[in-house]
Amino acid sequence: MIRIYKDFPLAKKNAFKLDVKAYCFVSLNQKKDFLRLPKLIDLKSSPVYILGQGYNTFFKGDFQGIIIHPNIKGVKIVKESKNFSWIKVAQAEDWIKFVKFAVRNNLYGIENLTLIPGSVGAAPVQNISAYGQSLEDTLVSLTAYDIIENRFKKFNKRDCQFSYRDSIFKREKGRYIITDLTVRLSKKPKINLSYNSRYGGITDELKKFSHPPYSIQDIARAITRIRKRKFPDWKKYGTAGSFFLNPIVTKRQLLEIQKRVKGLEYFPLENENTRSRPDQPYAKIPAGWLLEEIGWKGKRIKNVGTSPNQALVVVSYGNATPDEIQDFTQKMQSEFQKAYKIKLIPEVNIV
Ligand code: EPU
Repeated sequence: MIRIYKDFPLAKKNAFKLDVKAYCFVSLNQKKDFLRLPKLIDLKSSPVYILGQGYNTFFKGDFQGIIIHPNIKGVKIVKESKNFSWIKVAQAEDWIKFVKFAVRNNLYGIENLTLIPGSVGAAPVQNISAYGQSLEDTLVSLTAYDIIENRFKKFNKRDCQFSYRDSIFKREKGRYIITDLTVRLSKKPKINLSYNSRYGGITDELKKFSHPPYSIQDIARAITRIRKRKFPDWKKYGTAGSFFLNPIVTKRQLLEIQKRVKGLEYFPLENENTRSRPDQPYAKIPAGWLLEEIGWKGKRIKNVGTSPNQALVVVSYGNATPDEIQDFTQKMQSEFQKAYKIKLIPEVNIV
């Protein structure tokens, strides 16, 4: 069924719980509804934004275009082999519940992605990744409705053009609506403990309550504990996790920053070609660490602040307005630019 609303309130559908409205809001709950969309609504003359649960969206104010909110449910094991299960999951399923389902069934591959709020359909858009795992490691294929061509398309992993917090769906914003995805999870234990940080890693956390060999449930529990320390309770406060991307810098820039921030860890990019020249993208650097160095950890201005344990995480503590959040994050950007001569690019979708 398709439902169309005018001046729809979005307070319950955005990460910062902002009291904003959408000029037009369209919800659909069956795949066949999509094909009727162009007959019912003119999608070409207004901006279109596809909204799941809204956990990675910051509305600067009322949205003057059309919001499409698909609501298709279902989880199904579509294929099994001795070592793997292929699971097809519809876009409106809750990502956290889906990870719980996998963990409960001892299916390995997404347990480190536990406790990331949002819908399944949003996961490929920014290629969610955390604590050593990325969605692209297990994603096999997905289906998306193409608004321009008014038809469904199948994308295999390669077609999704995944990279760090990026995909074709993020780059061609407002064109594709993901309806379901298929992941291949391992029945054989395959754990990833590689994540480490300046303040400890997964293994340090595991040691606090368990001992090897660690189960998939142990891993999920360790990640949950780490995440709960860094992020405020998003049911209570407004937050979209990391507000900015970790910057990608050249070797020259990295050396400059390391002169100022001793011992700064970084992640070299995988492509060998990028390493040979000093002016090519070379490494990803932790914006949170650099923000902490310049006094942005646990900083607060009126109703907006950063998490006391993670400077990259912006939090609305109450009734922050879009302007307050914008002022706060612009200040973060400009002080970062001044200190390091590097631009912070938002990770959150700003609409
Ligand atoms: N750090 C500090 N101070 C801070 C924040 C971080 O010193 O205030 C240090 C950490 O101790 C660590 C390093 O900086 O040594 C990196 O921090 P962290 O491990 O917390 O991860 P991140 O790079 O800030 C990224 C993702 C997160 C993901 C984590 C864990 C981005 C933009 N963010 O954050 O994803 O959970 O890695 O893998 O890439 C999100 O996208 O919303 C998100 C939360």
